[in-house]
Amino acid sequence: MPLKIAILASGSGSNAENIVTYFSTSEKFAFPIIISNKKDAYVHERAKKLQIPSVTFSREDFLKGEPILHLLKEHEIDGIILAGFLLKVPEVLINAYPDKIINIHPALLPKYGGKGMYGHHVHDAVAASGDTESGITIHYVNSHYDEGNIIFQAKCSVLPSYTADMIAEKVHALEYEHFPRVIGEIWG
Ligand code: GAR
Repeated sequence: MPLKIAILASGSGSNAENIVTYFSTSEKFAFPIIISNKKDAYVHERAKKLQIPSVTFSREDFLKGEPILHLLKEHEIDGIILAGFLLKVPEVLINAYPDKIINIHPALLPKYGGKGMYGHHVHDAVAASGDTESGITIHYVNSHYDEGNIIFQAKCSVLPSYTADMIAEKVHALEYEHFPRVIGEIWG
């Protein structure tokens, strides 16, 4: 039986697509559902293309916890991947899926993490900081934003001339290279 994974994404969903495509010939993983908190997020288009049902939960409904848990149980979901998902995961989900929820963060945690630190906000902050490196952090999710145990980090160099967009591009490349591979290693 494959491990059934739900992917949660708030935006473009390029990581979601990359993960599903990476495992498209694997018998170890199935992706029965993609969940978003934005009804017009581009991830829904990608889900259509991948022939995976996608659903939207309003922020309020998502944060209640129980409705989403019900949906996950209905689909017999074993694990959850946050791929650019911006809401805090409610306690009820964290308790129902201990060490079975993982997130990717587009910086080297513990730097540039916490509430409000997502997507381009992270890259803007790195570009403004003068730091000479950035990268990705893949970590388990607990009830504090970006504070769960770290599974894997990868770095890229940042030159003083780099804009936030240039950093984002390098970080995305690291995400595409490592996120599916790390999922395969820990859950495969
Ligand atoms: C990714 O860079 C991911 O690391 C980041 O959002 C982007 C989503 O891109 N996640 C966070 O900032 C979470 N705090 P995508 O929608 O193209 O996969």
